[in-house]
Amino acid sequence: MHLPQRQLGLRIENMVTEYTATARAHSNIAFIKYWGNRDSGIRLPANSSLSMNLAALHSTTSVTWSDALEEDRLLINDEPAVPAALLRVSAHLDTLRAELRSTLHADVSSHNNFPMGAGIASSASAFAALTLAATAALGMRLSERELSLLARRGSGSAARSIPTGFVEWHAGSADKDSYAESIASPDYWPLEDVIAVISRDHKHVGSTMGHATANTSILQRVRVETAADRLLSAIHAILARDFEALAPVVEEDSNLMHAVMMTSKPSLFYWLPKSLRVMLAVQEWRRQGLQVCYTLDAGPNVHCICGAQDAAVVAARLKELDPDIEVIRSAVGGGAQLLTANDRTD
Ligand code: DP6
Repeated sequence: MHLPQRQLGLRIENMVTEYTATARAHSNIAFIKYWGNRDSGIRLPANSSLSMNLAALHSTTSVTWSDALEEDRLLINDEPAVPAALLRVSAHLDTLRAELRSTLHADVSSHNNFPMGAGIASSASAFAALTLAATAALGMRLSERELSLLARRGSGSAARSIPTGFVEWHAGSADKDSYAESIASPDYWPLEDVIAVISRDHKHVGSTMGHATANTSILQRVRVETAADRLLSAIHAILARDFEALAPVVEEDSNLMHAVMMTSKPSLFYWLPKSLRVMLAVQEWRRQGLQVCYTLDAGPNVHCICGAQDAAVVAARLKELDPDIEVIRSAVGGGAQLLTANDRTD
């Protein structure tokens, strides 16, 4: 049967092809920090880094690729994202489109289960979940290494939110060998991150800008040159479940990164007076016998890494120190997970 031309056109116009998937990834806290890139375009880091995934903090992201869309769309916690966030996600989708040889645009909806304004980084969990959902929606089942490589392009620390538990990101020498892998599962060593939320203010300078200034500090070269030794010490300490060996190296690495930040041009001061109060208290508690050490990312909040048996005491002591400090606790988390993937044609 021959359909009249107009009717045929209408049928084709109404046919929408959509591919959708949802993934979840956890945030992570670095023990050995990523700070500075050798190539910022592809986020090739200056040094290898090491982190622990955070079970209690995650992003859940749905991606729908559709030939009915003329541009990418982004909702964060059900609200339209600010233009800068959409631009960054769209740039990552460009990377994925090139990789997947697709020209489709995407509708992205991401939910963080932790307060966005709490000063806890969401880019790691967000870009890890986005990468897994976006590739799975198009039917790609990539290896963990491939996913980590791709997530890295969206946000460096997202590379470490793909594998499970305790994770090492190999700096590598080029795009294809800069990826993260697990060194131990979440249950290998029951540590907890007890986060002292000191300020909910939005960072004045985000990590991406910060990385770009790292080389203006005369200390960055020394930090990078000595990072491999600290990384090795931290890996040995984790594998031996040796808190006494882990604590000083974690604190030293955090202090070194902040020394670089403070001596960059322009200088970046993320610590607040309260951050230092908590850091000094943590060292005192360790001297008293508690398994606890501190580390800070690009913000004033203090991550108190604890042996699980001491986490409740540390949380209570933080409140005693200052009742205004909000405390968020997290055990070691797993890797990024695909929740649903339905290739669909309406
Ligand atoms: C201080 O991964 O947030 O938290 O690649 O620009 O997204 P982008 O930076 P990001 O940097 C993280 C920096 C850090 C240390 C760390 O997590 O290793």
